[in-house]
Amino acid sequence: TLRGSFARKAQKPNQSSHHGLQLQASYKVAILGAAGGIGQPLALLIKMSPLVSALNLYDIANVKGVAADISHCNTPSQVLDFTGASELGNCLKGVNVVVIPAGVPRKPGMTRDDLFNINANIVKTLVEAVADNCPDAFIHIISNPVNSTVPIAAEVLKQKGVYDPKKLFGVTTLDVVRANTFVAEKKNLKLIDVDVPVIGGHAGITILPLLSKTKPSVSLTDEEVEQLTVRIQNAGTEVVEAKAGAGSATLSMAYAAARFVESSLRALDGDGDVYECSFVQSDLTDLPFFASRVKLGRKGIEAMIPSDLQGLSEYEEKALEALKPELKASIEKGIAFAQKQP
Ligand code: NAD
Ligand code: LMR
Repeated sequence: TLRGSFARKAQKPNQSSHHGLQLQASYKVAILGAAGGIGQPLALLIKMSPLVSALNLYDIANVKGVAADISHCNTPSQVLDFTGASELGNCLKGVNVVVIPAGVPRKPGMTRDDLFNINANIVKTLVEAVADNCPDAFIHIISNPVNSTVPIAAEVLKQKGVYDPKKLFGVTTLDVVRANTFVAEKKNLKLIDVDVPVIGGHAGITILPLLSKTKPSVSLTDEEVEQLTVRIQNAGTEVVEAKAGAGSATLSMAYAAARFVESSLRALDGDGDVYECSFVQSDLTDLPFFASRVKLGRKGIEAMIPSDLQGLSEYEEKALEALKPELKASIEKGIAFAQKQP
C-alpha cells in the first residue's frame, strides 16, 4: 500500500510482534542538525523505530542534552551525541541513513531561496563529510532551499567520486503529508486512506500536487482544485506566519521526515512495496532534478514511475510547464555554487 503513515507501515501484519516475529533493529541512522527545531522531534520519532539499532545525533551545539534525554526511552536504539566538526566523522561511520535538517529556517517575509547563502555552505560541508565517511548511505536533505541544496549535494558527491543518484533524496514528504491532510479535510475522508502525489520541487509554485491522481479518487470542482493547490503550495508560509518569527514547520516536518526514514529502512530491509515522493535526479522531464513518486529498494531508488506524469489534468499540465523555469533556475544556482567552490 502507498497510503499508510510511517507508524502504520512499521507494523505490517507479517512483521509485527504479535505474530511472533520481531522486526530486527539493525540500521544506523544519523541526524545532522539534531539539536534544532526539526532535529529534536525527529530524533524522538526515529528513536521509536523498531528498525533502528543506533541513532547518532550531531550538531554544532546543545546536542548532549538532547541525546541524554532521548536515550532514556526504552526502545532498541542506542543514542550517541557528537558535537562540532571534529566529531562529525565518527558520527557518520557505518551509517545507513543520514538525515540533514541543519541550517537556518525562514522568518516571515522571506522565501526559501533567501536561506541559500547560509544553508548552501552548511549542506556542502556536511555532505563532504558524508562522502568521506559513509558514501553508501541514503542521504535525506531537508535543509532549504531543497531545490538548490540537493543539486549542491550531488555536485559535492561527484567531486568526491562517490555520487550515487539512487541514494540522494530531497525530502518533500511534508508536501504529501499536507496534501493528504487538506484533501481529507475538504472531502471528509478518513485520513489514513488518502494519498496525493506531489511533484516538481519544494518551494512555492514548484510544489505541484497531482490532485487528479489522489487515491482514492475524489471529485473536486475547478475552484476546489485551485484552492487546495494554492494552500498546499503556501502551507510552509502558513506556518512561518503563524510562528511569527520563531521559525518554520518543525513538528509536522519531523513527522514527515520520520515517515521517509522509516520507508527507507523498510526498503533497505527488503520490503518490496515502498513508494515515496522525493526530489531526486530524474529523467522524467527536461530538468535534471524533479520530485515524483519513486520506488525504494535495498540500493535506493529502484524505479521511477513515468506513468505518474501521464494523463495529467489540463490544470496540472499548465502548472507543470509554469513551474519549470523557477525550478530550473534554482537547480542551476545550486550547481553553479558547488562548481565555483575551490
Ligand atoms: P533550527 O534553527 O531550529 O535548527 C537548525 C539546527 O541546525 C540548529 O540546531 C543548528 O545548530 C544546526 N546547525 C547549523 N549549522 C550547522 C552545521 N554546520 N552542522 C550541523 N548543524 C548545524 O531550524 P529548523 O526549524 O530545524 O529547520 C532546519 C532547516 O530545515 C531549515 O533550512 C528549514 O528551512 C528546513 N525545512 C525544510 C523542510 C522541508 O520540507 N524540506 C521543512 C521545514 C524546514
Ligand atoms: C516547509 O515547507 O514548511 C519548509 O520548507 C519550511 C519553510 O520555509 O516553509
